[in-house]
Amino acid sequence: MSCEKSVRVLLVCLGNICRSPTAHGVLEHRLRAAGLDWVRVDSAGTAAYHQGHAPDTRATAAAARRGVPLAHLRARQVVTADFEQFDLILAMDAQNLLDLRAQAPAGSSASVRLFMDFAKGLEAEVPDPYYGGAAGFEQVLDMVEAASDGLIDQLCSGLWRRGGK
Ligand code: 4NP
Repeated sequence: MSCEKSVRVLLVCLGNICRSPTAHGVLEHRLRAAGLDWVRVDSAGTAAYHQGHAPDTRATAAAARRGVPLAHLRARQVVTADFEQFDLILAMDAQNLLDLRAQAPAGSSASVRLFMDFAKGLEAEVPDPYYGGAAGFEQVLDMVEAASDGLIDQLCSGLWRRGGK
């Protein structure tokens, strides 16, 4: 399906080893299934603690059970250039959103929002599963699947451009 020229989406959490790589894998998987080859996806963390690391093995195992590979991904920190290179920068929680907005250079054209804005009716923030149990990783998957589907609908309709910063 060809809806727009090219849209670049950056998914962001704190460590880039649990929530945002899960969102990255799920969104790419669903875009591929929908034939949307004009959307580019990446993920990053507001912190550098896990720079270069593969996703948390609990996240990788939970995603694999839903047919989504994550093990090839590597964590990186958000950099200033991301605010020029991505159209949509989507935060997993409110603190990530605040940190991103503080880092955004003046005049950046990127739209910086919560990922869960695209999953109306669900919680606004994807809870951090890092210090919890397996159920937290399933909850992350449920939430990012819903947000990915909502985002894909808006990408096709062009509605995402009217969502504000
Ligand atoms: P994420 O989860 O932000 O979803 O990747 C976390 C991963 C690591 C840490 C915190 C949250 N940490 O404190 O190392």
